[in-house]
Amino acid sequence: MERRQFLKNSAMSGAILALSGKRIWATSADSRIEVFLDEPKGEISPNIFGQFTEHIGGVIYDGVWVGANSKIRNINGIRAELVEKMKEIQVPIVRWPGGCFADSYDWKDGIGPASQRPKRTNFWEVDPDAARLHEKGPQIFEPNEFGTNEFVRFCKLAGAEPYLAVNLRSLPPLEFDHWVEYCNSPTGSTTLAEMRATAGFPEPFNVRYWGVGNESWGCGGNFAPEEYASEFRRYTNWIPRFGVDLQLIAAGPNGNDIDWTHRFFEQIFTGHPYHNSSFTGWSIHHYASNLSRGKTGDWVLGKGDALQFETVDWYELFRECNRIEQIMADQWAAMGQYDPGHHIKLVVDEYGPWYREGTELDPTHIFGQQVTVRDALATALTLDAFNRNADKVSVAACAQLVNNINALFLCHEDRFFATPNFNVFAMYASHQGGQSLRAEFSAPDVHYDRDGKPASFWGLNGSASRKGNIVTLTAVNPDLKKPSDAQVALRGATITSASGTALAASEMHAHNSFESPDAVKTRPLNVSVNGGILNVSIPAASVIKVEIAIG
Ligand code: AHR
Repeated sequence: MERRQFLKNSAMSGAILALSGKRIWATSADSRIEVFLDEPKGEISPNIFGQFTEHIGGVIYDGVWVGANSKIRNINGIRAELVEKMKEIQVPIVRWPGGCFADSYDWKDGIGPASQRPKRTNFWEVDPDAARLHEKGPQIFEPNEFGTNEFVRFCKLAGAEPYLAVNLRSLPPLEFDHWVEYCNSPTGSTTLAEMRATAGFPEPFNVRYWGVGNESWGCGGNFAPEEYASEFRRYTNWIPRFGVDLQLIAAGPNGNDIDWTHRFFEQIFTGHPYHNSSFTGWSIHHYASNLSRGKTGDWVLGKGDALQFETVDWYELFRECNRIEQIMADQWAAMGQYDPGHHIKLVVDEYGPWYREGTELDPTHIFGQQVTVRDALATALTLDAFNRNADKVSVAACAQLVNNINALFLCHEDRFFATPNFNVFAMYASHQGGQSLRAEFSAPDVHYDRDGKPASFWGLNGSASRKGNIVTLTAVNPDLKKPSDAQVALRGATITSASGTALAASEMHAHNSFESPDAVKTRPLNVSVNGGILNVSIPAASVIKVEIAIG
């Protein structure tokens, strides 16, 4: 429903409710949220709160992997503090080893005794951001200390499921079969299972999620969609299963390139149809990387700065991130023309604001950037969009977990802190596995000046879900100046009690650092229940969560 139409309708229904004496919207409230308990929209897959880790810059070496002999607290070489914080927010799934890196990676380099593993040139060696590295460390020459065994151990420690990205550009399909065999063949069954056991892992890893190629229109091979479709068939037909319910994910378009989607699915499903019930995911990536407000399409010049920004950039970032909902709708509609039952779901396995270089905590952190409260709001509005589309999205992964684009953690050597994105994932964890509910938000738009022209952005938006007798409501107030006095009504249930949490900063550039690791933090949010209506005072520039017990 149109937002304005809803305002009209809800004002009318408010009047009717007032007349019947049941519920009265207070005239003092400036925004309203209605949650419809009898309109479930599908289960929110826990996997949409996933993370991405690539062999790039400081993500693996420095971020995840410190080595068993390090003085930094570690578990078999894996940074212990990172694992502990990941458990706190219940990270459900982690994607690895790329990204673009995946299509130049030979998984066999990363198994067997560490001392015998080869050193290779890292894919990102050619990136302009790598030019600033004077020392040719693991960011340039990949030591393969961290391979499949170490990644699966990392996932197990964190309580997450592994999601592997397969090299389709530079390894033949048989290597994919063999990687599946190494991970999943039963104890004592194959030579690769023996090798796994010799490394200390007799039990199969039972890896279910496999991305077959990454950005295959670009760094993953520069394929035309028809070419990629025929490669995808070749790689995914008849792969060994070992009783594991494999989930195969195909590489979706550049941005919202619908032509790529139509041509891939046309090739896959028509003429010579492809039947593979394991093909369940269509990967899409959405970076908010151009904040130039239409002034340039240049990849470098269009980028904004993570720390130096003004009011207009604050809202521009949200506009860019907000596009994810339209991308999901467009892709879903196109996919439905070939897969009307929607067996294949969306996998948003890279997203986040992407700024120019300069705020990385160490020169080795290629694509490293600081994370402010602005990014936390952007991440929250993205997660809300996933929740609202729970029927469409099965997996998502924030790019990337640590020392990279939209990180939850920044660290270097023995210093470590969580960014405001961590707080968002902590708040949103209660949506995992909940039933997504239709929720209507009505609030005045925010108005601002966009290069001398009046512009607006929505004033309040969010999502709601139900687990048992708890309804979780999350919302973003993007307005830099105005708090919002919101009234929340649950249709189809009675509110018995509620409690709230807010992440807000009085200053739009606020961020954590080694010196001030808690500059941005969550705090309790005042909520009250009156006449069956919940009253919430939502701070300006904030993300909020309210947990509502229902009778
Ligand atoms: O996340 C960084 C890079 O962005 C990934 O490697 C690639 O898939 C995307 O273009």
